[in-house]
Amino acid sequence: MAPITATRDRTRSQKWFERAQHSLVEGVNSPSRGNAVYSSGPLFLERGSSSHVWDADGNEYVDFMMSFGALIQGHAHPKLVAVAAEAMAEGSHFAAATSAEVEAAERFRRMVPSAEVVRFTNTGSEATMLALRLARAHTGRTRFLKFEGHYHGWYDPFLLNAHGHPAEQLGPLENPARIPDSEGIPPATFDDVVLAPWNDIAALERIMQKHGRELAAVITEPIMANMGCILPREGYLQRLRELTREYGVLLILDEVVTGFRYAPGGCQEYYGIQPDISTFGKALGAGFPVGAVTGPRSILDRMRWSDHMVLHYGTFNGHRLTMKVVAANLDLLSRNDAYSNLHAVGDEAIAGLREVFRRRNLNAIVQGFGPMFQIYFTERDAIHDYRDYCAYADTARYSRFVHLLLERGIYMTPSNGLHWIISTAHTKADVAALIEAADHACARLT
Ligand SMILES: Cc1ncc(COP(=O)(O)O)c(C=O)c1O
Repeated sequence: MAPITATRDRTRSQKWFERAQHSLVEGVNSPSRGNAVYSSGPLFLERGSSSHVWDADGNEYVDFMMSFGALIQGHAHPKLVAVAAEAMAEGSHFAAATSAEVEAAERFRRMVPSAEVVRFTNTGSEATMLALRLARAHTGRTRFLKFEGHYHGWYDPFLLNAHGHPAEQLGPLENPARIPDSEGIPPATFDDVVLAPWNDIAALERIMQKHGRELAAVITEPIMANMGCILPREGYLQRLRELTREYGVLLILDEVVTGFRYAPGGCQEYYGIQPDISTFGKALGAGFPVGAVTGPRSILDRMRWSDHMVLHYGTFNGHRLTMKVVAANLDLLSRNDAYSNLHAVGDEAIAGLREVFRRRNLNAIVQGFGPMFQIYFTERDAIHDYRDYCAYADTARYSRFVHLLLERGIYMTPSNGLHWIISTAHTKADVAALIEAADHACARLT
């Protein structure tokens, strides 16, 4: 592979971005890809192979964003390319029953401990939407609890306090300010949402005592991945599991980010938690759009056809080509060394970054372990929750840091709310390139 240079001509990306303004809102298809995040406009990526990507000007980068975590096998994995090409030639989708979806579901069940049955969706947002509908139908209750700073997709009732805000706007911990993330949502939608701080057992006990009996579900990310990478405090998820059982509330574990990343069975395996319903996406499809809801038959069978069923339709559910890729991806992830390698490469990157910040005398921490982590420019020892993130993470400085890395051939989103991703394609050489670029960026960082 050619050496990564520091010279970055972006003329073609800039031209494409100007052109895009005429036909796409803000020139992109999601605000997280445009000027809201990339100060001089986004790079237009045209090609990817393994852990590297190339932009429209031919600049090469090591990719640590990996499609927001979807590309667990890196770009254009030869096995997945072959499977996708074959499936395309045979007929990509029939919207009919196929052996492909059965094979995907069987592998899924073998890997995920709580998966008695599976329902495939097309995105993580669809999965969390369905999970909530199932929980409401199963319990006969309407309200649910979500945590500050957790993102579960763009379905109306989840869009409360999923973005960062200045700390002084957040209100008291016991009664958090309720800040919708979007216009266009009827305010009454949020009447059914109980909002709680995360990672605080005492607060959770208080809130469950007050609202537990009226809740259909508590939905949580096991590792908070949309304010960077925030780990659960020791015993927190276990206590959450106990409390939800005590009050007859279903626990929805949103593993859209963590699923198939930390262990074959995701965080539920890693932390030993038995959710009632869990949701998946991203790494499941290795770059193809897919989501999944899983759990026991007693809950998922509510989707069986009847006058009282939970409705879930979708032309593209169980998309044949995608199911073929899912099955092949899960086979690759079932290899003995897949997860030990992800953890080893990620831990090496984390250790290297910590050493750079120490040597350069910068107040920065790296949180997370193995396959996913985030850097915070902060004077704190740790970021434990949404409020810490809003108050103490210097997100503007992080953005400047990542823009400097982009100049040195490291591709990452400048949004501090996201996270660094290690795929099976990343190598020690990629980690070395990151550390060298980070050292250079630290020397120039203002
Ligand atoms: C934890 C979590 N849940 C759900 C979603 C929604 O998934 P998708 O973007 O595939 O709709 C995301 C997306 O980032 C997520 O991070």
